Amino acid sequence: MKETALNEKERSVEELLSENEVLKAENKAAKERIAALCALQRTVQALTSELNLEPLLKNILRSAIEMVDASAGSLLLLDPATDELVFEVTEDDRGKALQGQRMAKGKGIAGWVVANRRPLIVNDVDKCHGDREMPINYRTGSLICVPLLAEGKVIGALEILNKQSGESFTDDDLDILTALAAQSATAIRNARLYRDLREERDRTVALGEEARKRLARDLHDGPAQLLSAIIMSVQFAKEILTRTPEKMDKLRAELEELEPLATKALHQVRTMLFDLYPAVLETRGLTSALESYVERLRLSNDFTVSLEVEDFSERLDARAEAAIFSIVQEAVSNARKHAHPSHLELGIARHDGNLVVTIRDDGQGFDPAQLDNSHDWCESLGLFNMRERARMLNGEFSIESAVGQGTLVKLIVPLQAGGGMDSGEREG
Ligand SMILES: Nc1ncnc2c1ncn2[C@@H]1O[C@H](COP(=O)(O)OP(=O)(O)O)[C@@H](O)[C@H]1O
Ligand SMILES: [Mg+2]
Repeated sequence: MKETALNEKERSVEELLSENEVLKAENKAAKERIAALCALQRTVQALTSELNLEPLLKNILRSAIEMVDASAGSLLLLDPATDELVFEVTEDDRGKALQGQRMAKGKGIAGWVVANRRPLIVNDVDKCHGDREMPINYRTGSLICVPLLAEGKVIGALEILNKQSGESFTDDDLDILTALAAQSATAIRNARLYRDLREERDRTVALGEEARKRLARDLHDGPAQLLSAIIMSVQFAKEILTRTPEKMDKLRAELEELEPLATKALHQVRTMLFDLYPAVLETRGLTSALESYVERLRLSNDFTVSLEVEDFSERLDARAEAAIFSIVQEAVSNARKHAHPSHLELGIARHDGNLVVTIRDDGQGFDPAQLDNSHDWCESLGLFNMRERARMLNGEFSIESAVGQGTLVKLIVPLQAGGGMDSGEREG
């Protein structure tokens, strides 16, 4: 009797001790998890403040490797244009060879993770995975790969290799990396938006600069030269008057030459003002502005011009009108500058709920395909500018041309409320 009671007591002490051990281990694991979460929080804070894509990607990969105590890894992003995965950053000397390499979307472990949008731990990569993506001679023991998901869309994957300790990756590692990947994907998306915004700003600045340069050139070649000629003539006339007051006839002849020069300068300045911003566009709309424009073009006598307006007279959103008008201006200025036509035909018509604007010249034409291949948008901003404006109008823009065949520039703008512009673009 007594012995059994003693045995039971001993057993319950043993049980308590082992329970205590379990609790201690659990406590330690919980502390480690809290520490890992704190580290994650700090990392995420640091990542989200980085707006430049390249350092951001490097930081994400480095943090991921550190967080799970691994020794190497890669960050892959999906190239939407080709649907390939690109090794954007790799850490580890042996991984350097991978940087910039591409891989079909479904291929390899990362390909599987991206296609299935699910993370994966593989703890004996060399044995189980024939479809290796690491360079030859690179031993991969264990691997953990998580998809990068931004707003529900998969944009790439983080692939982390070999724990420093040589142990296998655990579910805790997977949890931490999944959390890091979610925050990273959002940071990558923001950095890409920021980059697009900066590129957009650079393009706008370049366009503004180009317009200023053109204006300076036109002012220099046109009115500035005419005005110098007028000033010289006036000085000459004054000299005649002081030196030989009897030569009134000569003076009259001099003044008579001055008048057409001044008139020409005035005409040039007015044309420039019209090109810069036609006031009639704002007061009376697109059709009237095109009519005035055509009248001006006829004055220069370089070529004949016709304008056909069909079933369209209403006003559009002011920015849509301005965009359409400047596409016409650029197309006309190209025809004048490059095509040397004998006739230019402008058309504006309503067709199936669209506004169809056409600019056709019978000049020398060109090969648009060749231009596309050799095209550097910095050099010829005109076509780029027209396409950008058409895009802003949700319109379709096309150029049909061939050497010796003249050129047809066509813009089709949907005529829903707002003249084809997104409501967002019309604000402000
Ligand atoms: N109507 C046209 N006729 C002949 N060539 C044209 C015409 N429009 C455009 N091009 C060709 O396309 C090129 C690009 O035009 P653009 O982008 O406006 O640049 P830019 O007018 O400054 O040269 C021109 O340099 C010219 O070779
Ligand atoms: Mg041009």
